[in-house]
Amino acid sequence: MTVPASNSLRAHQITGVTALEILDSRSRPTLQVTVTLAGGVTATAGVPSGASTGSGEAVERRDGDTSRYRGLGVRAAVEAVRGEIADRLRDQEWRTLEEIDTALVKLDGTQNKARLGANAIVGVSMACARALARAEGRELWDWLTPPDVAPRLPVPHFNVINGGVHAPNPLDFQEFMIAPIGAPDLAEAVRAGAEVYAALRALLAGRGHATGLGDEGGFAPQLAEPEEALELLVTAIKDAGYEPGRDGVAIALDPAASEFREDDGRYRVAGQKLTSDEMIERYAQITSRFPVWLIEDGLAEDDWKGWAELTGRLGERVQLVGDDIFVTNPKIIAEAIAGGIGNASLIKVNQIGTVTETLEAMAVCRRGGYAQFVSHRSGETTDTFIADLTVGGGCGELKTGAPARGERVAKYNRLIEIAAAQPDMPYGLAAI
Ligand code: PGA
Ligand code: ZN
Repeated sequence: MTVPASNSLRAHQITGVTALEILDSRSRPTLQVTVTLAGGVTATAGVPSGASTGSGEAVERRDGDTSRYRGLGVRAAVEAVRGEIADRLRDQEWRTLEEIDTALVKLDGTQNKARLGANAIVGVSMACARALARAEGRELWDWLTPPDVAPRLPVPHFNVINGGVHAPNPLDFQEFMIAPIGAPDLAEAVRAGAEVYAALRALLAGRGHATGLGDEGGFAPQLAEPEEALELLVTAIKDAGYEPGRDGVAIALDPAASEFREDDGRYRVAGQKLTSDEMIERYAQITSRFPVWLIEDGLAEDDWKGWAELTGRLGERVQLVGDDIFVTNPKIIAEAIAGGIGNASLIKVNQIGTVTETLEAMAVCRRGGYAQFVSHRSGETTDTFIADLTVGGGCGELKTGAPARGERVAKYNRLIEIAAAQPDMPYGLAAI
């Protein structure tokens, strides 16, 4: 019999579950959850929060009291953790995280975790995972590794130009990332990211662009056309001494197209209104002109027909990642795999709401031959859970913002720590 890695054979008594209302990187309230086990092990988790959310995501609980934080307070979610959730988790001994997460989902009782709040539930789930790993004296990445998976260090995808709802500029595409796929190891990949970021800053300043930052730490210049941003990126990659492309530093895009799809079904790009077919044609041109190896949410979450066409047209040579369309939901990902929609899934723990369901989504991807691209949110804390999740999941790719700003670099620095402690662990994209 094989025992899933997240299973701990020993029963654990949870003695404390508590939460605080803290700030995220966008100055909005979020939760910090702390779990204590009998024997004294404690673990803490910070809860991320998105801005360009898919409509099928697990739902955050916000207070709606406009006299505090413009209605965005999370006091009720904090109370849910300290009260109902703590009572339930102190009630029995737990052998596995799956048992805990199943109990949380059942306690909530809704399809989308809206009653207790997905922000409350995910914080508890992450803190419990950490506590159980710690109780067994194992590194989180190791504890999260399923038996059929070889851990690996991922290609970091640095978001260096921000647009869409993450920046107040006219750029409709949300994220322009650089991916040092050709780097020999993780440390060199981080170095490439930081050096290209510095070269891009100099290039922007030299051309008279502002070098202010968007929500994920990338620059937010006053550009509208995606191709203009891509030209700047290719120049910055060369200026920093790297080769643009998969042998050196490639480019990845997250247009987050659900955000610029209009009511008439057309996509608004730099003032133009494009049909789904025209949008696909635009991506075909972009990928033949620029070293773009990955496009996430190239089309909107409800444009499944367009997604099928996009996949038929570019799926052989470009990684097509579903974010808003899949929402880390194992059932939706399975449907997409059956229907030939995309060839990869974004993985966000708070999008589905528990670590167990996230691991399930990743397992569905592996079985279906879909790549897994692990992701932060635009609102982050210094929590580094996703770095360990990516390594343990053997995913080979992680996006967690620019190589700047504390909440973003915390994750890259955690990868550096893991790499230093595991000199034989492979680096790079996973074979699918
Ligand atoms: P969000 O954006 O965290 O603001 O939802 C991230 C993404 O679209 O990938
Ligand atoms: Zn996205």
